Amino acid sequence: MIEWMRAAGLAAALALAALAAPVASAADAEAGRALYETRCGGCHDRSVHERTARAAKSFAQLRAAIARWDRHAGALWRKEEIDAVTRYLNERYYRFPCPDDVCGSARG
Ligand code: HEC
Repeated sequence: MIEWMRAAGLAAALALAALAAPVASAADAEAGRALYETRCGGCHDRSVHERTARAAKSFAQLRAAIARWDRHAGALWRKEEIDAVTRYLNERYYRFPCPDDVCGSARG
């Protein structure tokens, strides 16, 4: 029940984030952060994203790593949620140029 309510809250945050597109907004970053911290933060802290030998060398590789970890942890995220987490981690740590299909034009 609690899990369900949390999921509903995340869905609402994502819906708000989608409304705020195309500008990657604070709400969007917040949705990505919530998604990440709920499922991923328990296993690794920021150090994995800040290490100099980090695996992701481009936005596409970062997104692929996130999609891989999502599958690894049960494949719960839709494309939009993977995008939101990628934007969050990218903004916060990686700072790769973000392609238009993820950060640009409005998506529904
Ligand atoms: C079972 C523990 C575990 C869980 C759960 C987990 N990770 Fe990881 N993650 C790791 C470990 C360990 C590494 C470092 C080893 C590696 O690079 O494969 C890593 C590395 C990564 C990297 C690469 C960092 C870099 O640039 O070098 C990304 C991105 C990442 N995880 C994202 C996620 C996301 C998103 C989730 C949630 C869906 C997640 N992880 C859940 C353990 C975990």
